[in-house]
Amino acid sequence: MKKELLEQALDQINFEFESSYLYLSMSTWAADNGYPGTAKWMDKQAEEEISHGKKMMHFLQEVNERVLLKPIAAVPTDFPGFMDLFKLSLEHEKKVTARINALYEAALAEKNYPMANLYNWFINEQLEEESTLVDIITRLEKVPTPIGIMMMDDRLGSR
Ligand SMILES: [Fe+2]
Ligand SMILES: [Fe+2]
Repeated sequence: MKKELLEQALDQINFEFESSYLYLSMSTWAADNGYPGTAKWMDKQAEEEISHGKKMMHFLQEVNERVLLKPIAAVPTDFPGFMDLFKLSLEHEKKVTARINALYEAALAEKNYPMANLYNWFINEQLEEESTLVDIITRLEKVPTPIGIMMMDDRLGSR
């Protein structure tokens, strides 16, 4: 595999772990602010991001590339409010989607079909993640009251 493609793949592994760190930060914020359901939901989200990073790591290992882990960037620790957690999450996931799309294109350009196939899985995953967040935001916008927020927190707790 070309050096640039490998670098791009390693950067994405790092970004998945950074995503995990971001969701963990949101989870602790939610726990501290009295939203236990959201804390649990964000915790699961963080676990999913770790599994994404690992899926990408394992692929590179399978094709005998060395996986060098990079330092994780700092993430925000404070958030303006409940709704902002989900708006920021959606913004973040859109960034991830753009990066995955670019990786898919780069893999195809190199005719690396197994790698394109890997990112194809992530294209579907991103569609699901974005649509879940849009759904949460839409519901919250319908009932933007303390009661609406508490109901959403309960709902998220049952994930
Ligand atoms: Fe991810
Ligand atoms: Fe994600």
